[in-house]
Amino acid sequence: MAVEVEPRRPLSPPRTTGARRAIPAQDFYSPEVFERERDSFFSRRWICVGREEEIPRPGDYLARDVLGEGVLLVRDESGRVNAFFNVCRHRGSRLRDEGTGTAKLLQCPYHAWTYALDGRLVGTPNIAEGGGFARSDFPLHSVPLERCEGFLFVNFSESPPPLEEQLGPNGTAFSRYRLRDLRTTKRLEFDCHANWKVIVENYNECLHCPTVHPELVELVPLYRRGLVAEDDGFEGNRLGPGVQSWTVTGSSKVRPIPGLTEEDLHTYWGFVVFPTMFVNLLPDVVTYELLWPLGPDRTHITYDFLFHPASIAAADFDPTDIYEFRELIVRQDLRVCELAQRGARSRGYGRGVLPPQDDFVYDFEAEYLRERDGPAGRTL
Ligand code: FES
Ligand SMILES: [Fe+2]
Repeated sequence: MAVEVEPRRPLSPPRTTGARRAIPAQDFYSPEVFERERDSFFSRRWICVGREEEIPRPGDYLARDVLGEGVLLVRDESGRVNAFFNVCRHRGSRLRDEGTGTAKLLQCPYHAWTYALDGRLVGTPNIAEGGGFARSDFPLHSVPLERCEGFLFVNFSESPPPLEEQLGPNGTAFSRYRLRDLRTTKRLEFDCHANWKVIVENYNECLHCPTVHPELVELVPLYRRGLVAEDDGFEGNRLGPGVQSWTVTGSSKVRPIPGLTEEDLHTYWGFVVFPTMFVNLLPDVVTYELLWPLGPDRTHITYDFLFHPASIAAADFDPTDIYEFRELIVRQDLRVCELAQRGARSRGYGRGVLPPQDDFVYDFEAEYLRERDGPAGRTL
């Protein structure tokens, strides 16, 4: 697919020393660090805000906040999706609350300035044009937008690099899963009292799996050993014998995505799109998870399930056990993320320790520092 970032493979060969130190604990709770993140990579990187299918018809819009910056994606009459800052040009009111909706025109809730779906300012009640005021001078400010495999990415910088450049060569690795054609059937939402990086780091390791996910380690033998990378260099994670998907029993009532390889039918693939997107691919379902940082110690999470239209159309389509199992796993994860967040401020902590099994965590932190402080900044 053309989303990307790293498959679950260390950026550098596995390290064997056991005493690497993590980034300082204050990076997980400091408001100043949170602001620095917002003003550095969150304003520079392409950020996934959803799927094109969420706004299928003209007039449909999707409003999202990325660390307080509002973006409004609108499908205009021509069918084109436009992205704007979700802010009125008059006196800065937010135009739409977060979520989806449909409108013929976008009217500001404050003084009713009204914008067309392509961002033109077309109405200013009680304010006539002339005398130096022209509505055409004040369209909504647009936000760079790119699509990839049905995913919508925005970028808050003025001249961002192409999305593919950020996504890199791994972007096409999962095209056989037909991500563009898949359709969302369900979204789970969670609020977690933890810094977004705690959740990313938890995703990047499985040392916690034997303790936290007793059900999951029944399905993926590797996880029972606390590992996320197979010994033979295979970059996926092999499902146990007879396991078709992640459910309590390991069996699935959903047909596999057409066209997968024999290997795919026995494999879980997962990767992080830095900074806040996770993609999980199983034979019958793809899920993607977006983290929405709300503050240094609070994160909202959306977790969407994608299935192939042919699977959905089957008379016996029943994803209930897939939903339930994944919700169980996510709740297990978020609980321990909250525990880790609570310990971050303790005088008895300071910073963590990253043994070799935490290679992906180490790599994430190295990338995080590069993105936040630049190549000349602090390194791990
Ligand atoms: S702030 Fe939007 S119309 Fe005044
Ligand atoms: Fe987990």
